[in-house]
Amino acid sequence: MNADVVVVGTGFFGLTVAERLASAGRRVLMVERRDHLGGNAYSEAEPTTGIEVHRYGAHLFHTSNERVWEYVNRFTAFTDYRHRVYTTHRGEVYPMPINLGTINQFFRSSHGPEAARALLAEQAAELGDRTPANLDEQGVRLIGRPLYEAFIRGYTAKQWQTDPRELPASIISRLPVRYTYDNRYFNDRYEGLPVDGYTAWLERMADHPNIEVRLSTDFFDDAQPVSKAAVVGQVPVVYTGPVDRYFDFAEGELSWRTLDFEQEVLDVGDFQGTSVMNYADEDTPFTRILEFRHFHPERDYPRDRTVVVREFSRFAQRTDEPYYPVNTPEDRERLLRYRELMTAEPDVHFGGRLGTYQYLDMHMAIGSALSMVDNQLTA
Ligand code: FDA
Repeated sequence: MNADVVVVGTGFFGLTVAERLASAGRRVLMVERRDHLGGNAYSEAEPTTGIEVHRYGAHLFHTSNERVWEYVNRFTAFTDYRHRVYTTHRGEVYPMPINLGTINQFFRSSHGPEAARALLAEQAAELGDRTPANLDEQGVRLIGRPLYEAFIRGYTAKQWQTDPRELPASIISRLPVRYTYDNRYFNDRYEGLPVDGYTAWLERMADHPNIEVRLSTDFFDDAQPVSKAAVVGQVPVVYTGPVDRYFDFAEGELSWRTLDFEQEVLDVGDFQGTSVMNYADEDTPFTRILEFRHFHPERDYPRDRTVVVREFSRFAQRTDEPYYPVNTPEDRERLLRYRELMTAEPDVHFGGRLGTYQYLDMHMAIGSALSMVDNQLTA
C-alpha cells in the first residue's frame, strides 16, 4: 500500500488529521463507508430548488477557539449568520433559550432582570432542600415549574421517548436562562456559515496531492484492500468510526439516539420566517422544523418555493445513524472497558465523536484532531 497513514472516516476529525499530515509531507489514504465525504456535516443542494440542505441535521459553525478559527478560515469564508431559535408552545411562539423576552411573554409581565431572577428563584424553591429524584424534579429545581413544564418537559420527553419522571436528573445539569433580551443561540466569539456551503469546505480540506480518498469503502470489509485486517500493524491508523464496532462489540453495544428527517418542498416562498422552530408540546410528534433557506438569506433562492425538514428523535438500532450518545451508567462502564482494549492497539488512534463516544461540536472535533496531530502523530 502506498500510504504512510490510513484515516478511517472523512468527517471533520478525519479530514483535519489528513490535511495536517498531508501538508507535513505524509501520504494519507482515507477510507469512507458512505458514498460522499464530509461525515455528518455534509450538505447538498435540494435538486428542484437549489436550497442547501444539511443531510444529517442542521449544522451551525461557532467557536471561541482562536486556533480552530484561524485553521478553518484557510478553507472557507463565513457568512455573518447568527443563529436564533424560537419555540411554539400551545399555539404561541417564544424566543429561546429562555430569556427576559420569553419570561415576560409567558407571565404577561414586564419584569426587569432582578424581578425576573427573584420570580424564578421563588418558583425553583418548590422542592426545598430535597435532592431531585428524576429529571422532572431537576427541571423544577433549576427554573421553576411553570417554565420547565412549558418549554422543557414535553420537548425532553420527545427527545428521549421517555417520561421525564423516569429519566435520571443527571441528564440536565443546567438550563440556561438569560436575564437580558439577548436571544442569540451561541455565546461564542466567532459564528457563521460557510459561504459556499459545507461540502465545498470539506472537499477543499481533502484537496491535496498527498491525500487519496476511497468512498463506499468499509474498513471492516475484508474484501477490500484497506480493511482492518490488512492495515492494522502495517501503518498507523486514525480511526473515527464507532469504537464498539472496532472491537466487534466485545464489551457490548454503546447506546445512541438517532433522528429521522421528513423533508418536503413547499410551494410557498417562506414557511415559518426563521430557520429553526422548536415544538415544545408533546402532542406535536416532531421536535422541530428546519427551514433551510433562512440559513442563507444572502443567497438568491427561489421566491416561490422552500424546503422544510421535520425532525423526530428516537433510540438508535444498530443499523441507524448514531447521533447523540445516550451515556447511561452502563455505557460509561462499557466505554472504560473499550478504553482498556484501545491501549492494546498502540498503532490505532481513536478520535472524533464515534471513536470516543462523545458529542463533539464541529469546532471541538477539529480542535481535538489538531491536538492529536501535535501530540500523537507528529511528536
Ligand atoms: P463524523 O460522524 O462527521 O464522521 C465520521 C465518518 O466516519 C463518517 O463519514 C462515517 O461514515 C465514517 N465511518 C464510520 N465507520 C466507518 C467504517 N467502518 N469505514 C469507513 N468509514 C466509516 N456541530 C456543530 O458545531 N454545530 C451544529 O449545529 C451541529 N449540529 C449537529 C446536528 C446533529 C443532528 C448531529 C448529530 C451533530 C451535529 N454537530 C454539530 C456535530 C458534528 O456533526 C460533529 O462535530 C462532526 O460530525 C464530528 O466529526 P467526526 O469526524 O468526529 O464524525
